[in-house]
Amino acid sequence: MTKRVKIIVFSVLGTLFLIALSMILFVVLGNTSIHVSKFEVKSDNLPSSFEGFKIAQVSDLHNEEFGKNNKRLLKKLSECEPDIIAITGDLIDSRNTNLEVSLNFVKEAIKIAPCYYVTGNHEGRIDGYEQFENELKSIGVVVLDGRSSMVERNGEKITLYGIHDPESLKGEKYGYAERGIVEKLLKELDYSDTGYNILLSHRPECFDYYVEHKYDLVLTGHAHGGQFRLPFVGGLYAPGQGKFPKYDSGAFIENETTMVVSRGLGNSIFPFRINNTPELVLITLTN
Ligand SMILES: [Fe+2]
Repeated sequence: MTKRVKIIVFSVLGTLFLIALSMILFVVLGNTSIHVSKFEVKSDNLPSSFEGFKIAQVSDLHNEEFGKNNKRLLKKLSECEPDIIAITGDLIDSRNTNLEVSLNFVKEAIKIAPCYYVTGNHEGRIDGYEQFENELKSIGVVVLDGRSSMVERNGEKITLYGIHDPESLKGEKYGYAERGIVEKLLKELDYSDTGYNILLSHRPECFDYYVEHKYDLVLTGHAHGGQFRLPFVGGLYAPGQGKFPKYDSGAFIENETTMVVSRGLGNSIFPFRINNTPELVLITLTN
């Protein structure tokens, strides 16, 4: 091999090595860093005492750890200075369940702000969910399973509602279609569309039902941002929505309802993401 050929071969190999290294770094950093997505949600219904009220949303953690004992995630959460924390399901992963990691995270998160929780499809699949729910309640988490909870300020209030994920409810009572179950659960809520109302629900694909019920704000997850995201295209696949999901990330507004879809923090059946950094959502309410 002549000297010139050797230089060309080493240059090509060096370039390929740098490209491979950059791709590995892109994927690793894109799966281990946390992006805080900020939204301002406006509504004339918001009582003036809640101007600037901040909600941090933690979705689809799938018992992932960001740093030892989720130290990095908790630091980001604390820096957001939320008034409340909304946990919108899949706190655990049914394929790789580690209740301790999830409970330890919640024990620390509740020191930052009051926590409100609804289940995801993964909680619906595990044996012993009831014990997990009891542990959450004993920590002080408000479990919004078909019920509401009020937050009061200066004599004014907003109401948080929540529904169970339909996964665990399939059967004779509710039927087998997940969208149908969500529709029934919404009808079962003791709900009044006056005042300012927030719904926690794992499923973004039921946006039309949330609009019908005139919720001011709906917090959802489940779609994992479509797992792999392409520029100008968005997510490639989401459970419940299939290929090129419509509700994969960001805020969707129709009539008086704003739905925020968190891309979530963890993974499940696909163990990594591409161009889809784990996300902590921070919402500021304003009128
Ligand atoms: Fe999930």
